[in-house]
Formats: sequence, structure tokens, C-alpha cells
Amino acid sequence: MNQTINQLTKRKSVRVFTEKPISLESKQAILDAAIQAPTAGNMQLYAMIEISDKKIKDQLAQSCDNQPFIAQAPLVIVFCADYQRFFDGWRFFVDQNTRPPLVGDLFLAMSDALIAAQNTVVAADSMGIGSCYIGDILENYELHQKLLNLPDYVLPISMIVYGYPTVPQQNRIKPTRLDLSAVVHQNQYSSLSKEQHEYYVTQRFKLANQNLTVQQYYQDFYSRKYQAAFTVEMNRSVNQMLQRFLIKNVE
Ligand SMILES: Cc1cc2nc3c(=O)[nH]c(=O)nc-3n(C[C@H](O)[C@H](O)[C@H](O)COP(=O)(O)O)c2cc1C
Repeated sequence: MNQTINQLTKRKSVRVFTEKPISLESKQAILDAAIQAPTAGNMQLYAMIEISDKKIKDQLAQSCDNQPFIAQAPLVIVFCADYQRFFDGWRFFVDQNTRPPLVGDLFLAMSDALIAAQNTVVAADSMGIGSCYIGDILENYELHQKLLNLPDYVLPISMIVYGYPTVPQQNRIKPTRLDLSAVVHQNQYSSLSKEQHEYYVTQRFKLANQNLTVQQYYQDFYSRKYQAAFTVEMNRSVNQMLQRFLIKNVE
């Protein structure tokens, strides 16, 4: 295994940070890694907002499903899909009346934002700096739009918090993954049978020395990740975000 693959295999989320600050040099390396990411047509349809203001961090810790460790992180970056920059450029220099960005344009911008985000995670990890994605930035769109001064075509897609891991975080066991064959398909997608669900889930928990049944596994995610209050807010909020990209009867 080469060093890169080894690093990707070992990487896990970090949610408790030491007091050690992230140097300007390291922060620059993290941001430089983002900008080297591939983007659709090299348009770089993303924006990174560094949150250095303690009050904004505190607000985000609350509005992103009450996760206090967000406020403790020495570096916090919100990754946005940004179609505003090109939209404005086109209106300034090409056609004042150009069409607004639509949902396909948004999907490309979201891809750009997330790929750049993952580059920062890998770069940070290579310097011993831990990180954790915060998907709850998708909640409370109206509040975040005001807080971060987001124009109409800039949407917050993910937030990442970075910092040096405490020793217990370093020693925390990385959560196991499903076997590759549960997620790799050849040429065409094939749904798992009930028995295959049972097999893959049981196998995953055997690896982690846990004794969960397949029912418990699905019930747990159902309650915590699908029926939980945060999902109601997240789906409401994302619906709001999407409104201006969804124009009916697009030719
Ligand atoms: C899109 C996305 C959103 C996430 N949101 C959160 C979050 O809001 N809070 C949190 O503690 N972890 C969050 N995580 C981290 C996941 O829980 C974590 O990646 C997963 O449990 C696997 O663990 P590992 O990263 O340690 O391997 C998120 C990860 C991703 C990719």
C-alpha cells in the first residue's frame, strides 16, 4: 500500500480538538489543496467561507443541530456551491438578461464544492490535522443565508471543522465499512436481496465485534438519521434553497 492509500484508509473523523492552533502556513496549504481540485470545466463553481468570528462559530454550533464541538474548532470552513460569480460575470460582460442558473448547473456546482472540500480533508490529514464534515449546515437556510451574507446563487453545501485530535480521538477506532462488494456494481446496478442485506450488515458488525441484528441496524439509522427532527428541518431548508433553481418547463 502506498502512503496516499494508507492515509486514506486510516483517516477518520475528529470531533474533539486540542488547544493547538492551526498555523497560517498549514491553513494556506489546506486552502491551496482545495483550489487544486478538479472542477467542472475548470469553472471552480464553489466558494469557501472561513469562519473566524467567534460569534458566528457559536451561532453555527447551535443552528447546525446543536453540535458544540463546532465552536471549539480552530478552523471552520463552509463550502458553498457558487453560481453567483459566473452569473454576475455573464451579466456584466455577456448578456444582462441571461437565464438564471438552473438545477443542473447547481448539481455541477455542488460537485465542485464537495470535491474541493474532500481535498482539504486529505491535505489536513497529511499534516496531522483532523477534520469532520458537518452536514447540518443544510438546515436553517434562511438564517445561514443572512449570517453568511449569501447571495441567491450561493448555497451552503457542507461545512468542515478542523483541528489537532486529542489522544482519545487519535485512538478512537474507525467505524467499519460495508464490504466493497455491497457497493460495487458491474455495468448495471443490481439491488441487494433481503438475504444479501442480512449478510452484508451482519458481516460488517462481525468485523467491529458488535452483535447487532440487521433489524437493529436499520432501525437505528431509521430513528437517528431518517425520522429524526433534524431531517424535517433539513428537508424544509433544502427545499427553500432549491426554489430559485427550479423553473418549470425548462427547454
Ligand atoms: C456529508 C457528511 C455530513 C456529516 N455530518 C456530520 C455532522 O453533522 N456531525 C458529525 O459529527 N459528523 C458528521 N459527519 C461525519 C460522519 O458521521 C462520519 O464520516 C462517518 O460516521 C464515518 O466515520 P469516519 O469519518 O470517522 O470514518 C458527516 C460526514 C459527511 C460525509
